Amino acid sequence: MKVKKAVIPAAGLGTRLLPITKSMPKEMLPVINRPVIHYVVEEAIKAGIDDILIITGKGKRAIEDYFDRNFELEYYLRERGKERELELVREISEMVDIYYVRQKKPLGLGDAILHAEKHVNGEPFAVLLGDDIIVSERPGIGQLVEVYERFNAPVLGVETVEWEAVEKYGIVAGEEVESGLYKVKDLVEKPKKEEAPSNVAIVGRYVLTPEVFDALREVKPDKRGEIQLTDALRLLVGNGRSMYAKTIEGKRYDVGTPEGWLRANVELGRLAGILR
Ligand code: UTP
Repeated sequence: MKVKKAVIPAAGLGTRLLPITKSMPKEMLPVINRPVIHYVVEEAIKAGIDDILIITGKGKRAIEDYFDRNFELEYYLRERGKERELELVREISEMVDIYYVRQKKPLGLGDAILHAEKHVNGEPFAVLLGDDIIVSERPGIGQLVEVYERFNAPVLGVETVEWEAVEKYGIVAGEEVESGLYKVKDLVEKPKKEEAPSNVAIVGRYVLTPEVFDALREVKPDKRGEIQLTDALRLLVGNGRSMYAKTIEGKRYDVGTPEGWLRANVELGRLAGILR
């Protein structure tokens, strides 16, 4: 089955970016003159996805407004003959079909994904975290979709990280079956360096299959009361489900931290020729 749907979880509180995230969703932070989530939606579209579900939550209205029509603004621009600006504004609301569902309480990424079950309706689906930008020739999520289509199994986007950083990620224990492609044997969420089975880390891209929903219902919340997606994936692998991890080619920016956000602006600004 082709992957036509994507889910973008964007309901997290973004505490690492406080105080700006007190009144503004982190997915709406600008990278040059577009919000982070614009790049994420574009990546999904480039991978052939035509149906996007965004998981929103409290204080995330700005995301819906951004992708919606703004008739007042369009009228204002038309009146003044600002055709180029009008085009820019209209383009966004015509990019793709976007749907929304609200996660009432931020009970973790796993819980956010559970809110997509009805919309996904038994199909395989892509997951793109709303705070990770990937710059590459081939769209990051498209690279995972290719692997999904070969094996008909869930695929996790991964990156080899510094050993010092493994405790910030879900880590894959696996067998490298091709260069940059792993058969997943086990997963560990945020291990200590000494206990990590590898430095192959899950980054914000996945292709999942609907059986993940039952697994999400089965796993227990962690010590912070959050349902972790990695725990559900680990349960599936433990039950013998085959699963792959693919190194995503390209440059990734974790815009959920001040450093990543700033880096994204500087480097994308250079690529666009705005900075020298
Ligand atoms: P993060 O781990 O970055 O958490 O979530 P966060 O709450 O957004 O940010 P910090 O850690 O407090 O700074 C990873 C992804 O999962 C989504 C986030 O929006 C982000 O895209 N998420 C997380 C939800 O949708 N719901 C949640 O309850 C938690």
